[in-house]
Amino acid sequence: MSEHTVTITDNKTGKQLELPVRQSTQGPCAVDIGRFYREMGFFTYDPGFLSTASCQSALTYLDGEQGMLMYRGYPIEQLAERSNFLEVAYMMLNSELPDRQQLDEFTDIITCHSMLNETLNRLFNGFHHDAHPMAIMVGVVGSLSAFYHDSTDINNLDHREIAAHRLIAKMPTIAAASYKHSIGEPQVYPDNSLSYTGNLLHMMFSVPCENYEVDPIAEKALDLIFILHMDHEQNASTSTVRLAGSSHANPFACIASGIAALWGPAHGGANEAVLNMLNEIGDVSNVPRFIARAKDKSDSFRLMGFGHRVYKNYDPRARIIREMCHEVLAKLGDGNDPLFELALRLEEIALNDEYFIARKLYPNVDFYSGLIYRALGIPANMFTVMFAIARTVGWVAQWQEMIGEDNQRIGRPRQLYVGPIRRDYVEISQR
Ligand code: SDX
Repeated sequence: MSEHTVTITDNKTGKQLELPVRQSTQGPCAVDIGRFYREMGFFTYDPGFLSTASCQSALTYLDGEQGMLMYRGYPIEQLAERSNFLEVAYMMLNSELPDRQQLDEFTDIITCHSMLNETLNRLFNGFHHDAHPMAIMVGVVGSLSAFYHDSTDINNLDHREIAAHRLIAKMPTIAAASYKHSIGEPQVYPDNSLSYTGNLLHMMFSVPCENYEVDPIAEKALDLIFILHMDHEQNASTSTVRLAGSSHANPFACIASGIAALWGPAHGGANEAVLNMLNEIGDVSNVPRFIARAKDKSDSFRLMGFGHRVYKNYDPRARIIREMCHEVLAKLGDGNDPLFELALRLEEIALNDEYFIARKLYPNVDFYSGLIYRALGIPANMFTVMFAIARTVGWVAQWQEMIGEDNQRIGRPRQLYVGPIRRDYVEISQR
């Protein structure tokens, strides 16, 4: 069968260019425009990358129209129901689900890398007492390369693997230490007898003067939420990690750049913004006013937790978390959380409003996740930190995939220049 190509024609000069189409295994193919500027003298223009594939990847597949999400071909619904966070993390890093021995070895490695260098532990005290935990996490993760020199050579496969394991293992410890600092309580060291999420809960909520028992419902709920947040194709923070990695920056610096990008309320910061919004709405009687604000172009207010660049159907992760909300709230709380009731009513009203229907705006992963975090006793300023813990696996897997490519090159987009044309300097006495 002849090669699949598309032909571009410049209607001013009649010049034509035939471009090859790269085939996908699922979803849209991609026109390879690598030669476009050299042959046609134009750049392509796509701010926000609505139609642009920045790379090829075998990790995660989304179908925005179908509301479908798969990690290395496994549907998110099956992984959420039958797997666990470290097993899915292994699969993302190694392409295949582990056997029992591989999973046990991987779990041991991650568990044994959970402690922080003791000098690094003192870094947390350098932050102001009311520093946002995300600000602390960005700073501490970026500083890891100052402590772990034996895993910063990106050309060394062993270094890349150790750095990946250290980042996945230490994120819960850094997150918990960020939280403890923000509430003025002493840091709690990891307990290697606990699970990944059990250890996180232990480090966040135990205190030296009392015994602490991990609640298995909270432990399982966090494990499930972390699976759902693990990776999501070339989202803003993952693209940031890839771009930083393309300059051959060390892996700790790359992940710190991803954390910074995730923090924005248009991205991972939305879960905290959703809870703030629900508190601001307060009562279902106020919903129509906020829906009107969300539709008013002169008002910067957006309905946080709604809309998505790719999903033009219900975010499959939101569907899973929404169902989980009922279960967790019923088991952990009185089951009648007024904010959850308000969220359900807000969703119902929005999904029947022509503005949201026309724009295919559905709840996304951030709309319900904060309600579960709140039920687990996690404060709103830690919600995006939770997201960052889970997404570290995706960032690391995407970074490893990028840095391991044979033809890996530095990412360096061009621009459509619309500034002043050439002009000469004028002495200040002449201005
Ligand atoms: C995440 O990319 C990923 O995969 C991200 C993520 C991941 O796992 O990594 O899924 C995690 O970041 C989820 C998204 C969390 N953010 C929010 O919930 C913030 C609220 N959502 C919006 O800011 C917005 O929907 C975005 C940023 C998520 C998507 O922005 P787009 O694709 O650029 O959409 P857009 O701004 O072009 O919106 C299209 C239209 C516009 O109206 P018109 O100009 O066509 O009249 O829809 C409107 C927008 O005004 N719109 C909204 C809206 N989201 C879009 N109107 C009201 N409320 C909203 N939330």
